[in-house]
This record gives sequence, structure tokens and C-alpha cells, in this order.
Amino acid sequence: MKFRMQSVNAHGLHSPFMYRLATECFYDKTKFSEYKLLKNYYKQLAQDQRQIRVNDLGAGSKIFHSENRKIADISKVSGSSLKEMKFLFRLSRYFQPKSVLELGTSLGKSAFSLALGNPNASIITVEGSKSVCNIAKEYFEKNHIKNIELINADFDDFINGLTSRKFDFIYLDGNHRLKPTLDYFEKLLPFMHNDTVVILDDIYWSDEMKTAWNRLKKHPQVRQSIDTFHYGFLFFRKEQYPEDFIVNL
Ligand SMILES: C[S@@+](CC[C@H](N)C(=O)[O-])C[C@H]1O[C@@H](n2cnc3c(N)ncnc32)[C@H](O)[C@@H]1O
Repeated sequence: MKFRMQSVNAHGLHSPFMYRLATECFYDKTKFSEYKLLKNYYKQLAQDQRQIRVNDLGAGSKIFHSENRKIADISKVSGSSLKEMKFLFRLSRYFQPKSVLELGTSLGKSAFSLALGNPNASIITVEGSKSVCNIAKEYFEKNHIKNIELINADFDDFINGLTSRKFDFIYLDGNHRLKPTLDYFEKLLPFMHNDTVVILDDIYWSDEMKTAWNRLKKHPQVRQSIDTFHYGFLFFRKEQYPEDFIVNL
């Protein structure tokens, strides 16, 4: 309720950068032909009745109580919905990032959507659970996607091993806890630039995530933020007036 009362639509966004993002991406109603491929990927997972053994990493699950899980159930509980896949596709299509980092692959629904949005992007996606990673790999191959590099590692190990590179787009969707989220952001800062877009998933998932979001949007290097309730966007664009937006998708 509070979110809805504070949020605006495109007409409440006076910054041209934000207005364009909202009208040309957030609220774009075009039925892109790629949506069929997203739906297909989504449906394949929803019908996959195989069971795998998953070792929970990060904040764990609020739903699963056993390590043995059906792929269809993992997809439903911890992966992007079809609507979210379409949204991520549009974001990637709109921003055209050359270099993308995702922390938290799960079964690859978000990475696949980002990859389809910009086939010229090189996408690195990191997943700590080996069994989940194997399924994502299988699905990327089955769906003929070539611009994703899937890395099976703990987020910390991956970030600590990064050397000189810059990401245009970073999507943080795993280990939804306060300290790790703040640490990942801080450690990834040297790998960002003025136009990097950082997106945090599930910013209202828990009190820890709400705190992480509130701290990150006040970070001295962050200039603007957008809170869409599900996602939190962080921007660094120095040329932009500092502002926080709440947008109802
Ligand atoms: C919410 S799911 C990702 C969903 C996916 N991005 C999508 O939209 O379909 C989070 C994933 O992060 C992984 N994860 C959590 N903590 C991790 C860590 N510390 N290192 C590596 N992977 C981690 C989990 O195994 C899980 O598969």
C-alpha cells in the first residue's frame, strides 16, 4: 500500500533519462518475437519433472525443506516469472550492454532473457550450486544461446578473482542477505563505470534486503535509484541530478 501511494508512472518522471527509460522500456507493450523463445524456455522448465539434489547457498529458501527438488519446482519458486523474463529482455534490449554480470543463475531464465535482449552482449552468470548449474548449461545448449559464459563458483570467489574489466550491466540475484549484498556491491565498484546499471532483485524480500536497498541507494557513489518494488535500480551518472524514484510497473 505504502509503495503504491508513493509510486509514480512515466508522467511523474521529470528527468528525461528516466522518462525515456520508463516509456521506451518499462511500459513498452510491443509483442517482441523473442517473447516466444522466452515462453518456450519457461515452459520447458515448468514441465521438467526430473529431481536434483540442491545444496542451498546464500539466504536459502523460504519454501523448500528438502535438498531433493524437482526442476519444475525450483523454476517456479526461485526463478524469474515469464513477466520478469520479458522485463529483463526489454532492459537488455534497451540498454544494449556489451558486458553483463549476473550473480545467481539458477536455471538460467534471467541470463537467457538478458542474452536474447542483446545478442552482442557477453554475459557472465555465476551459480554456486553444481547440480543447478548443470541444468542451466543443458538448457542454454538446448536453446542455442551462445553469448552466455556460465561459471560454477561461489560469488565471493568469483569476485575476488576479477581483474581488469568493466561491466555495463550488473544483476544481483542471489544470497539475499544484508552483509553479502553490501559486500558484493562494494567489491564490484572498481568494475563499474559512469553508465553502469546495477539491478538488485527482491529488495523487499526480507528486512535485511530492505536495509541493504536503503543503504545502497544512499551510497556516496550512487546518484539515482529506481524502486519498482521487485527490482531496485542504481545509477552512477554524474551528469544527473541526484534523485530517488519509486515507479509502479
Ligand atoms: C533467486 S536464484 C536466481 C534466479 C535467476 N536469476 C532467475 O531469475 O531465474 C539465486 C541463485 O543464487 C545462487 N546463490 C546464492 N548464494 C550464492 C553464493 N554465495 N554463491 C553462488 N551462488 C549463490 C543460488 O544457488 C540460486 O540458484
